[in-house]
Amino acid sequence: MLKTLASLVFYARFLGPFSTFGHRRRLAARPAAPFDFRGQRWCVTGASGGIGRAIVLGALHGGAEVHALARDAAKLEALRRDAGEGARRLHAVPLDLSRVAAAEAWAAHAPRFDVLVHNVGVMLHAHTLTSEGVETSFATNLLVPFAMTSALREAGALDAGSLIISMSSGGAYGAKLDLDALEARDAAHHDGFMAYAQHKRAQIELTRAWNAQAHGPRAQVMHPGWVDTDGVRSSLPGFRRVLRRVLRNGEQGADTALWLAATRPEPRPEGGIWLDRHRDTEHAFAMTRGGASAEALVAFLRQRASSIR
Ligand SMILES: NC(=O)c1ccc[n+]([C@@H]2O[C@H](COP(=O)([O-])OP(=O)(O)OC[C@H]3O[C@@H](n4cnc5c(N)ncnc54)[C@H](OP(=O)(O)O)[C@@H]3O)[C@@H](O)[C@H]2O)c1
Repeated sequence: MLKTLASLVFYARFLGPFSTFGHRRRLAARPAAPFDFRGQRWCVTGASGGIGRAIVLGALHGGAEVHALARDAAKLEALRRDAGEGARRLHAVPLDLSRVAAAEAWAAHAPRFDVLVHNVGVMLHAHTLTSEGVETSFATNLLVPFAMTSALREAGALDAGSLIISMSSGGAYGAKLDLDALEARDAAHHDGFMAYAQHKRAQIELTRAWNAQAHGPRAQVMHPGWVDTDGVRSSLPGFRRVLRRVLRNGEQGADTALWLAATRPEPRPEGGIWLDRHRDTEHAFAMTRGGASAEALVAFLRQRASSIR
């Protein structure tokens, strides 16, 4: 009962800015600029559907070469068909991004990227383990993006001229970072919604940690608003039923990622999370302040990744 009430308060608080109305209000005055990404090489994860697919198509439209990573080869092939003349600059990479070893093996031979979009993200209500024994949503949302980024840096595929964009969520506004809550080790303690909120909060801290590293790529973290995707359809069917008329489309969800890559704003020491080309606060409620630090998160992820190698 209390949980339902808290959810209602949460959704009511963000209905304006996160819905399609918020997107229109903030961006109505701006022309849908044709971004110029010619000469750039991009990597987009979770690229075969939803927001990731729209990012790939936007980057190809701007002239970029794009490496599109997702599991389903048929969906990647459909993406190629929709890419038009951009298809010749599209590299479809079927890869399971819930597995550290697979991501690291791919990263070891990857070319240099100008832009890396960590878009893949899942909210899983059932507790399942990957073949490496890691809770699947934690692996997909956080551990693999962390390990993959480190491997890409080691391979020289990311350098000071590269930009990393992480696709967080308004769900981050519901959690204070708690390292013990990132990965439930048994089904009885798994709350898919809260785990997702933790992972999305952690992406904000990870961005801070990446930006603190000298001579490394710059990093930004954003959220797309509420977007009508397969992910929302399967993870939040009730939410979608009530709000589907005001959900954004994929292009609206992708817009800020494309804009960040085109304009390259400087990260700020105080951080911030981007929505609709605006740097918003990292904390909408006092209760999310004071969680684990960026340094502690990195140490935790490093240790967890090495424990499965
Ligand atoms: N939709 C929203 O309202 C919303 C709101 C806030 C934040 N976000 C964030 O935006 C991002 C994209 O969300 P979305 O709604 O577009 O998701 P989606 O519709 O579920 O699409 C997810 C994509 O990730 C791929 N994927 C899933 N698991 C994978 C794995 N293990 N390995 C490789 N690829 C995998 C899927 O393709 P395959 O099945 O082919 O692998 C698909 O291309 C996520 O990080 C999400 O948290 C979304």
